[in-house]
Amino acid sequence: MKIAVIGYGGMGGYHVQNIREYAATNPAYPIEVAGIYDTDPQRAEAAREKGLRAYASAEDVFADAEVGAVLIATPNDVHAQYAYAAAQAGKHIICEKPIAMSVREAEKMYAAAQKAGVVLEVHQNRRWDDDFLTVGQLIKAGTIGQVYKIESRVVGANGIPGAWRKERAHGGGMMLDWGVHLIDQMLQLVPSETKSVYCEYSYIYGEEVDDGCELHVLFENGMRYDVVVATDCFRRLPRWQVYGTEGTATIEDWDLAGGVTRAKCKRDTQIVGVRAGNGFTKTMAQRSDASIEELPLPVVHAQPFAFYHNFAEVVAGKVSPAVRKEEVLRVFRLMEAAERSAQANEVIKIKI
Ligand SMILES: NC(=O)c1ccc[n+]([C@@H]2O[C@H](COP(=O)([O-])OP(=O)(O)OC[C@H]3O[C@@H](n4cnc5c(N)ncnc54)[C@H](O)[C@@H]3O)[C@@H](O)[C@H]2O)c1
Repeated sequence: MKIAVIGYGGMGGYHVQNIREYAATNPAYPIEVAGIYDTDPQRAEAAREKGLRAYASAEDVFADAEVGAVLIATPNDVHAQYAYAAAQAGKHIICEKPIAMSVREAEKMYAAAQKAGVVLEVHQNRRWDDDFLTVGQLIKAGTIGQVYKIESRVVGANGIPGAWRKERAHGGGMMLDWGVHLIDQMLQLVPSETKSVYCEYSYIYGEEVDDGCELHVLFENGMRYDVVVATDCFRRLPRWQVYGTEGTATIEDWDLAGGVTRAKCKRDTQIVGVRAGNGFTKTMAQRSDASIEELPLPVVHAQPFAFYHNFAEVVAGKVSPAVRKEEVLRVFRLMEAAERSAQANEVIKIKI
């Protein structure tokens, strides 16, 4: 199958390279890049320099009978129009996250794909991040008892990158950029409906869209989950902090540094008080070495190119999409509840 990439910017370039590498290592599903289309002539030129065909227009892509699928990696506001056109032309679709600008638009895109009988799969690639898979394993293995709270955080100090991400009309802002990934991961990890949602956006850089967000979700099963996206933090903070009834785990970053501290006993009988600032505390003193054990993280590595492989198998009719419509729409419903919460500065009680 030949895939044409629409939008050959940062992510489009990443996909071209990945698809070529996937194709080289998976002869069972022969996939190649048909070419790219980008409205920016400089990006078209950059593609030609890499030996890629640069289509002159999107219409040329859709008219090319050799193109079996398109991959949409444009700014967010034009995902939908390309998805409708691709479906009408009978091309399968990979769409970058966030699929659309709203849950209604996303529903229409799925309806168009279904009507045309083509596959539409959203590139929620962070489901195959090793750190995320490792958190899943930690919960499953029960290493730190019953997990009751998760902090999932990404922080940078570069503000909002590029031009379109700063503009509402193009679907800019960090909730739609990183929030969508972390919320998708959250809904994969927690087997429960939500009970309430509270969100705050930050506007440190004075742009018209959020440059960060903090989302607190309480689930019906009692799980508390915090999502933090910041672009103004010059100090590293753990990517994940996972709290269980018998211990705590930290994953520092995508390099999987970190570890697990597990309680050997419920109460530490040898605890000694410590000086703390201008005072004394037993409550906040570290546990004694005899009462805890340090364990390595139960590291899980993802299958390389798992998303492309799934898409190829879905198109071949062998499996169903790893990223399902209902899951994508649920993430959007949660983001819309977060938006309402942030605007009203209120906790929203909602089952999602
Ligand atoms: N899944 C991920 O990990 C991940 C990471 C980064 C970006 N993304 C997503 O990928 C998409 C693109 O982001 P990016 O970082 O590559 O942005 P980018 O600005 O680097 O690239 C976007 C490209 O699209 C082109 N373009 C703009 N309007 C177009 C149109 N109407 N038709 C064709 N081309 C057009 C631009 O010229 C540019 O080359 C976004 O939806 C973003 O959310 C996903």
